[in-house]
Amino acid sequence: MTDNAVHSEASRRRTFAVISHPDAGKSTLTEALVLHAKAITEAGAVHGKSGRRATVSDWMEMEKARGISITSTALQFGYRTARGQDCVINLLDTPGHADFSEDTYRVLTAVDSAVMLIDAAKGLEPQTLKLFQVCRHRRIPIITVINKWDRPGRHALELMDEIATRIGLRPTPLTWPVGIAGDFQGVLDRRSGNFIRFTRTAGGATAAPEEHIAAEDAHGAAGVDWDTAVEECELLSADGSDFDREAFLDCTASPVLFTSAALNFGVNQLLDVLTELAPPPGGALDVDGNRRATDAPFSAFVFKVQAGMDSAHRDRIAFARVYSGTFERGDVLTHAVTGKPFVTKYAQSVFGQQRATLDTAWPGDVIGLANAAALRPGDTLYCDVPVQYPPIPSFSPEHFAVARNADPSKHKQFRRGIEQLDQEGVVQVLRSDRRGDQAPVLAAVGPMQFEVAAHRMATEIGAPIMLESLAYQVARIVDPGDVDFVDRQSLTEVMTRTDGVHLALFSNSWRLQGFQRDNPDIQLRSLVAAEG
Ligand code: G4P
Repeated sequence: MTDNAVHSEASRRRTFAVISHPDAGKSTLTEALVLHAKAITEAGAVHGKSGRRATVSDWMEMEKARGISITSTALQFGYRTARGQDCVINLLDTPGHADFSEDTYRVLTAVDSAVMLIDAAKGLEPQTLKLFQVCRHRRIPIITVINKWDRPGRHALELMDEIATRIGLRPTPLTWPVGIAGDFQGVLDRRSGNFIRFTRTAGGATAAPEEHIAAEDAHGAAGVDWDTAVEECELLSADGSDFDREAFLDCTASPVLFTSAALNFGVNQLLDVLTELAPPPGGALDVDGNRRATDAPFSAFVFKVQAGMDSAHRDRIAFARVYSGTFERGDVLTHAVTGKPFVTKYAQSVFGQQRATLDTAWPGDVIGLANAAALRPGDTLYCDVPVQYPPIPSFSPEHFAVARNADPSKHKQFRRGIEQLDQEGVVQVLRSDRRGDQAPVLAAVGPMQFEVAAHRMATEIGAPIMLESLAYQVARIVDPGDVDFVDRQSLTEVMTRTDGVHLALFSNSWRLQGFQRDNPDIQLRSLVAAEG
């Protein structure tokens, strides 16, 4: 494969994730995107969410019972832009709802941009804010989408203000609603100045026809709503809210679009913005800060390892994002951390929950590697020229539970199993002298991680555990010299992670703030910001 081929394949790819709070419309938007891109002919085949058409898979029994998707899946589809360029879109799922876990954050280490999806009636919600912080920390450019504009919601200017003041991201709308939420007629395309009229379709089952009307005819078509939109856009321009590519790439400003994913409005515009403005794969910085160019020999970064997808085979599949070079199924890669070869006969692509054999992959693509017991999140794989990417950061846990061995005869298995789950990044494991080695504390971003840990301890490791939740919600890194002092405070406890980092656990953020107010000299650092 020539360097040129790699370069041109990389430049037509866009790899992104949607960050949102549950119910903002992520599944609906995903389906609408795929529908527009015409990878599937009928919306509804993407997620096996209850009520929607489920895709057949041999996922974990737990997942089947709940009827929801535990895994983060990579969805790839082609899209021909308005300018006739054939692009390849890789959409990585960030599991939400009950599936929210450390994997949700880890997915964000594998994307080049993110779509921040906001419900027009609700504005910024907690899970969106958490995911946004991870994007900001990793300097991932963000496209903001205000969804459900067909339903009553907040004023568009008020939403822009919320984004600017609460998270310090400068909104730069590319489209602006003509008509208020719940009674809208379409959008003003701020780049062309034209009116894009919205047409309702029955049930949103097909792509909504969009009518483009020249600015001079827009008043006739939309009346005073058009005049209001024009005035508001003038206000936006006066306020410095015009699109600024550099600030977008720097994660300080965000282009904004208004959509109704359920009615398939604005989805085309999102695809166009993604393909025109979002960055293509651009290589990656290694541990020494050197950039490995996309046309360098193959390299990829494991961002997630899924166990138990096939209970009959104790299958383990590692999801790796390609950073450079070409991948051909059958290539023998090197596992950077051990130096051992890794055979890729079983490489797969994952569409929704269906797996298919994958033969070739390019920078920006995600490959699923089966039989990946040796791989961990954060591992690097390469061909020919060695490279090692920085480890995946561990994200701030918000759920804590003491794990106890339920079967005294399985003492050894218990220890080994907990160690294995820790190494694999299924949960973070914390210990303290006070609690002893028999009672490690499992720490997680979402409670589903505990379910996975308990399931694997019982079925795979053969040492069932009992979990007792602890009433902590916030963890901060504390310096070794301050451990004793912090540990002595009431309703607070310091525990040590396997990598030696000391974490102070607080029952909630008010308690943390109170502690900081009373002890301004004690440095407490948040996890994502302190690492990576
Ligand atoms: P999620 O993946 O972010 O959790 O959200 P999901 O797409 O499941 O959407 C949550 C609810 O919001 C769904 O309604 C969905 O139909 C609705 N929704 C999504 N986008 C829009 C939109 O643009 N406009 C309006 N009006 N509704 C939208 P539901 O009642 O929970 O399910 P359903 O029976 O409609 O599928």
